[in-house]
Amino acid sequence: MAVKIAPSLLAADFSRLADEVTRVAPVIDWLHLDVMDGHFVPNISFGLPVIEALRAVTDVYFDCHIMTTNPDAYLAELTKAGINQATMHIEAVPDPGRAMKRARDNGLDFGLVMNPGTPFDSVVPFAEDCDVLVVMSVEAGHGGQSFDADVLPKIETAREWVESHGLGADIQVDGGITPENAGQVISAGATVLVAGTAVFRADDPVSAVQALRRAAETDE
Ligand code: DX5
Ligand code: ZN
Repeated sequence: MAVKIAPSLLAADFSRLADEVTRVAPVIDWLHLDVMDGHFVPNISFGLPVIEALRAVTDVYFDCHIMTTNPDAYLAELTKAGINQATMHIEAVPDPGRAMKRARDNGLDFGLVMNPGTPFDSVVPFAEDCDVLVVMSVEAGHGGQSFDADVLPKIETAREWVESHGLGADIQVDGGITPENAGQVISAGATVLVAGTAVFRADDPVSAVQALRRAAETDE
């Protein structure tokens, strides 16, 4: 499976969001949008009007990582704003089956996210119907944290589970990804790399995406 690179907008220059997005759009697979409510996570990022404004300037696939309490409450509005995929924390979603149905009813791709301390077993009852399974390699809530290599076995478990069930779900890894660790994350079984700091805080974000892709594909 080809590796997807999904830069996280959280690390972009918020005073020039449209420029930041249109600059990297030609070389990325997904744009990762971290929506935070200051309740499920202790941070507030951006929400519906910002996503809608960015949808007007790009056709790139919007992968929305919802870090809110009651994550399925805003699916219709997020869809209208222009997202393509909603991912929700298994720790936050009261009824994952209902959330998945709501996402599908809105025509969205859907995935479940696990924080570092949450075992893969927690998503297994719903994993068969997910488009993506997301392994957090930092505690959700802030950009710029260091990758936690303790999650590598969970990535391997997720990959083995997907393959042994004959499924095509992506395995996304989010948090602290750099060209230095991208290879081992892909070797463990990831297919989607989220990277905020490593892309948008680089001198040249386009080259940074290309460096991540090279690192990912070299160690594949
Ligand atoms: C953390 C977010 C991540 C974060 C990634 O809560 O889910 O997507 O923005 O940023 P870096 O790559 O800086 O860890
Ligand atoms: Zn994220």
